[in-house]
Amino acid sequence: MVGNQDGSRVEALLSQLSLKEKVGQLIQYFYFQLPEQPAADGAIQFDMSTQPRGVEAALSEGGVSSLLFVTRPEVINRLQRLAIEGSAHGIPAIFGFDVIHGLRTILPVPIALAATWDAGVIERSQAVAAREARAVGIHWTFAPMVDIARDPRWGRMIEGAGEDPLLGSMVAAAQVRGFQGDRLGASEHIIAGPKHYAGYGAALGGRDYDEVDISDQEFWNVYLPPFAAAVKAGAGNIMSAYMDLNGVPATGNKWLLDDVLRGELGFEGFVVSDANSVKDLETHHFAADATDAAVRALTAGLDLEMAVTDAAYANLVEAVESGRVPIELVDRSVRRVLLAKEAIGLFDQPYVDEDAAALVLAAPEHREAARLAAEASAVLLRNEGSLLPLSPALARVAVIGGLAASKRDTLGPWVFDYDLDETVTLLDGIRNHLGDSVQVDYAQGAATPTRLYPSMFDMFGDGTGIVDPDFDADAEFDRAVQAAAAAEVAIVVVGENQDMIGEAASRSSLDLPGRQLELLQAVVATGTPTVLLVMNGRPLDLSWAAENVPAILDIWYPGTQGGAAVANLLFGAAEPRGRLPFTWPRSIGQVPMHHAVTRGHSPQNQQMRYWNEEHTPLFPFGFGLGYASFSYGEVSVTPASVPVNGEVEVAVDVTNTSERAGQANVQLYLHQRSGSSSRPLRQLKGFQLVQLEAGETKRVVVKVGPDERRYWSSATHGYVLDESIFDVWVGADATADASATFTVSGN
Ligand code: NOJ
Repeated sequence: MVGNQDGSRVEALLSQLSLKEKVGQLIQYFYFQLPEQPAADGAIQFDMSTQPRGVEAALSEGGVSSLLFVTRPEVINRLQRLAIEGSAHGIPAIFGFDVIHGLRTILPVPIALAATWDAGVIERSQAVAAREARAVGIHWTFAPMVDIARDPRWGRMIEGAGEDPLLGSMVAAAQVRGFQGDRLGASEHIIAGPKHYAGYGAALGGRDYDEVDISDQEFWNVYLPPFAAAVKAGAGNIMSAYMDLNGVPATGNKWLLDDVLRGELGFEGFVVSDANSVKDLETHHFAADATDAAVRALTAGLDLEMAVTDAAYANLVEAVESGRVPIELVDRSVRRVLLAKEAIGLFDQPYVDEDAAALVLAAPEHREAARLAAEASAVLLRNEGSLLPLSPALARVAVIGGLAASKRDTLGPWVFDYDLDETVTLLDGIRNHLGDSVQVDYAQGAATPTRLYPSMFDMFGDGTGIVDPDFDADAEFDRAVQAAAAAEVAIVVVGENQDMIGEAASRSSLDLPGRQLELLQAVVATGTPTVLLVMNGRPLDLSWAAENVPAILDIWYPGTQGGAAVANLLFGAAEPRGRLPFTWPRSIGQVPMHHAVTRGHSPQNQQMRYWNEEHTPLFPFGFGLGYASFSYGEVSVTPASVPVNGEVEVAVDVTNTSERAGQANVQLYLHQRSGSSSRPLRQLKGFQLVQLEAGETKRVVVKVGPDERRYWSSATHGYVLDESIFDVWVGADATADASATFTVSGN
C-alpha cells in the first residue's frame, strides 16, 4: 500500500465515482504558462492559444486528474479551485513538473551529481529541489532519470548517471530519498517518478526516441537495476518510456509494466506515460487507433496518461461501455492514482500558501547546497606540473570562451524557473574571487555555434544561440588570443551550449562545436599556461587537449552557483573530487564504449580491435584526479575461498601521499573467470569515499557477497550464482592494478 493512509477514503470515492469521473482521474494534461512571443521559426509548435483554455474547461468538468508545467503558486491555486469545484466529489488535482536539477536554485545537471559518487551530496541536493517545488505547490517530479547511457551521441545522457548499473542504482536511490524524504508524504518533499521505464538510453544510433533492441541479459543486468533500486527506495511513481523495447512499445508493454515492474520489482505506486506516449502507440503502428491505444496501455498496467491535448484515455468510457475493457482495470488504476494523492496529503491540504513560497525560493542555504554540489561534481582530468590550483596572487588573467559569461548555459538544460539575475557565471565567479587587484580580461573568442534545427525548448524563450549580426568572428578570435598572450594564465571554457544537449538534442559527432578547438590551439600556442574548463553533459572530443593542455577540469553545467564553485576549485579553496560516471572515448568511432565488456577473442592483441585507433578510452570510467594523490597497497581477500552463498572481505591500505588533505574514491572491480555466461572483464562492484589527511593511511574494506556476484544469464534465462575463481581489483578507476583472487566453490 502506497502512503501513510489506510485507503478508506479512496475506496469510498471509488464506490461513488461515475465511469466518466473515474476516467478523468486517469488523465494528466500539460498546462502552458508560456511567454507571449510565438515560437521561433521552425520550432516545434503546440497550439498555445487553445491549449490552456481547453484544459481549464476539462478541469471544471472533473475531467482532469493532474496537470504539469505550472510553477506559479497563484496559478496552481486557481487551477486547483477549478478542479475541486469541478469535481462532484471535490477531488483535487495533483501537480507534476520536471524538477530535474532544481527549481529556482539550479543544481549541477544530473550527470554531474552522479559524478560526485556521493549519496549524501545527491540526496541533499534533490531535497533542496523538492523543498522549492513543494513550496510553489508542486507535488510530484518526473525525476530521477535512471536510464543507463552508454552512447554519448544520445543527448539525454546528461539527465542520467552514466554507464554503470551499480553507480546508477546508488544515484537513483539517493535521488528518490532526496525528493521524497524518509517516506512518501513527508513534509517539504514530493513524489519521485523514476523514468523512462525501461531501456530508453539504448536508442539506436543515440537518436532520441528511436527504437531499442536489447538482449535479455542487458535488460536484467544493466538497464533494470537502477529502477529496482529506485523502487526499493520507495519511489511513488514510474514513467513509462517512449520507445519500442524489442518491438513492443514500453507504454503498451504488459510484460514490462505488469510482470516485471509490479511482479518482479514489487512496485506498488502508479505508472504515468511519457508525454503523448499512449497516443504514440498508434503513431508507432502498434495500436489500430486511439481507443485501441488506450485499451492496450491500460491493460498493460499504465495508470495515468500524460497528454499535451486530447487524451486517448478519454476513449476508455466508450471502451468500458462496449465491453472492450473491464471496469476493474479502470478501478485498479484510479485506485493507484487516488492513493498517491492521499499519500501526498492532497485531500487534506490541496492549496499552497502563496505567501510562503517566495521565502523558500530565496533560501540562502539552497544556494550553499548548490555550490557544494557543483564543487563535489567537478572532475579534474589532467593537471600536468600541478598547474592547478592556481595561485590567487596573479596580476593578469584571461578568461576566454562565450560559455564563461553565459548565465543561461551555466544552468544547463531542463530548467525553466531559474533566475538569471542571481546566476553566477564562471567569469563572475573568477572576478569575485580575485577581487579588483587582479586584471581579468574576457573575450568570447569564437562565435556561438548554432544547431541545425531549433531546439524544441525555444518555445520557452530558452535558446542560447543569440547571434549578434555585428559579430566579427576573426577580430574576436584575434582579440581572445591577444588577451591570452598578455596574461599570466589563460582560462579557456569550451563545450556545448545547453540547448545542444538534452532531450531531442542528440549529436552525430563529439567535436567541440564551432571554432573552439582552433581557438584553444591558438591560445596554447601563445605559451601562456592554459587551464581548460569543459562545460558538458557528455564526453566531448578532447584528444588534442588531453596531450597539449596542462590542466583540464570538467565542470559540467554547474548551476546557479557554478561560477563561485569553479573559482573555489581553480584557486584551491575547494578540492576537485568528482569521478567520471562514464568511459570517455577518444573519438566518436569508438562508441558505444564502457568498462564492463567481456574479454573476447585474443584479448592480448588489442591492436586487432581497431587498426586506426587505440582500443582504450581517453579517460577510463571512474577516473578523476584531485589536488592530493593516493597510493594503494596490496589487496587481500579473506577468506580466500567461500561457498556459493558466502561473502569475502577485500581489504587494502590507502595512503595520501601528498601534502594536502583529500578524498580518495576507492573503487572495487570484479571479474568471474568461468560460469554460466562470460562475465565482464571488470565490473564496478563497490566503492568508498575516504577522507585522508596529508600522509595518512587508512584500511578500506569492501564486502563481496552473493549480491555482488549474482547476475542474469541468458544460458539459463534466470539469475545465477556460479562457482568460479574471481579476480578483484581495487584502486582509483577502472584500470586499477592492485589485485587479488578468491574462489567460490560448493554450498
Ligand atoms: C518528455 C520527456 O521524455 C520526459 O522526460 C518529461 O518528463 C516529459 N516530456 C514531461 O515534460
